[in-house]
Amino acid sequence: MAKVKADSLKDLRLRRSAKWRGFESDVLPLPVAEMDFPIAKPIQDELIDMIKRSDTGYGGIIPELPAAFAGFAKRRWDWDVDVDQFHLATDVGVAGVEILRLVTQPGDKVVLNSPVYMNFFTWIKEVKCEPVDVPLIPANGEWALDATALETAFADGAKAFILCHPHNPVGHVFSREELEKIAHLAAKYNVLVISDEIHAPLTFAEAQFIPYLAVNDEARAHGVCITSASKSWNLAGLKCAQIISQDAAINDLLAGLPISTTWRASLFGGWASVVAYNEGTKWLDAVMDNLDENREYLAKVIKKYLPKAKYSIPHSTYLAWIDLRAYEIEKPADALHEKARVALSHGEEFGTTGEGHVRLNFATSKANIKEAIKRMAEILEH
Ligand SMILES: Cc1ncc(COP(=O)(O)O)c(C=O)c1O
Repeated sequence: MAKVKADSLKDLRLRRSAKWRGFESDVLPLPVAEMDFPIAKPIQDELIDMIKRSDTGYGGIIPELPAAFAGFAKRRWDWDVDVDQFHLATDVGVAGVEILRLVTQPGDKVVLNSPVYMNFFTWIKEVKCEPVDVPLIPANGEWALDATALETAFADGAKAFILCHPHNPVGHVFSREELEKIAHLAAKYNVLVISDEIHAPLTFAEAQFIPYLAVNDEARAHGVCITSASKSWNLAGLKCAQIISQDAAINDLLAGLPISTTWRASLFGGWASVVAYNEGTKWLDAVMDNLDENREYLAKVIKKYLPKAKYSIPHSTYLAWIDLRAYEIEKPADALHEKARVALSHGEEFGTTGEGHVRLNFATSKANIKEAIKRMAEILEH
C-alpha cells in the first residue's frame, strides 16, 4: 500500500479534537496521542455509510467485534482469544477504572511502572487507591522491569498492577521472561494484572509483542487485557474499548462489571473497530512504515539540533520520550510551550522519574518534526 501521508497543517488546524483546539494558533501541538494521518478508507466508508443511513443509535453487544478482534489477534500475534470472554467499555480509561473498582477498596495499593501514561495515576485516584511506583530501569537505551521491587510491592499487599504493555511513553515491549516473572509474582501474591495493550498493534518489526494472556496459565488466572482500536487506527473520539479475559474465575469477576459498561461504548466506535480489526491491517502497516522512518528521522534531527538531549528509539508506538535534563530547565514543557511555541507532554506528569523529560508525538509529517526540534533548539541551545 502507498504511504499514508500526514494531513497538511492547514487541514489539521480544521480538526476539532483537543489536540488541535487546545493551544494558541501559532503553537505546534505534539502532545496528545493521536495521529495526524487521515484514517483508513474502509473505516471512513463504514462511518459515512452509518451516518447516511441514520444508523446512529445505541450499540450494546456487538458479536461481530469479539470475532473481528480474535481474527486480528490470531493473525498478528498467534493469540487464541475466547470470544465468549469479551466485554466493551466506553474507552480504555473507563475499562481500567471499572476493573479497579471490582478488586479494590479505597486506600488499597495499585502498582505501576513510571515513567508511565499519566492517566494511570488518575484512574487510581478515581477509585481512591494509592499508587505504588515500581519505576522501570533504564539500561543502555533500553528499559527493564525491576522484578525485585515489583515483588516487594506485591508482598506489601498491592491489589492490582496496571501494566502498560507496550509501554507509553518509553516504547518498551515487555519480554517473555519479564511477563512470566510478572505472572509468577501475581499468582504468588494474588494480584490482578490489568494489562493495557492499547499500543500493541503499533509495535515495530524488531520487537515481538506477546499478549499478556497468551503467556501462560498463571497470567490468565490473574490477568485481564484492556485494549482498543482507538490508538492504532486513530479513533479515540469514537469511544469503544475491549476488556478480555481467558480464565473462568476472572470471567466471573468481570461479570460483576456494571451492565452499563458495555452500553456506554458507542455504536460508531464498535463498528469502526470491527472494520479496523477486519480490514485495517494494510493501512496500519503503511502507517508503521511511516512511523518507522519518523522515529529514525527524529533521532537524526535531535542529534543535529539538540545534541545534549537523550532519546532512545522506541520499539512500539509513536511517542518519543526525550530526556532534557542536561539543559537544566525545570518543567521544560512549560518553557517550550511559552517560548518555543511547541506543545509537548509534561514529563513530570508521568511520575517523579519523568522530571526534566518531555514526550513528543511523532505521528505527523517530517516537516513538523523538524520544525518542532528546531523551535526547541532555539530556546534550549541559546
Ligand atoms: C497506555 C494508554 N492507555 C489508555 C489510553 C487512552 O485510551 P482511551 O482513549 O481508550 O481511554 C492511552 C492514550 O494515550 C494510553 O497511552
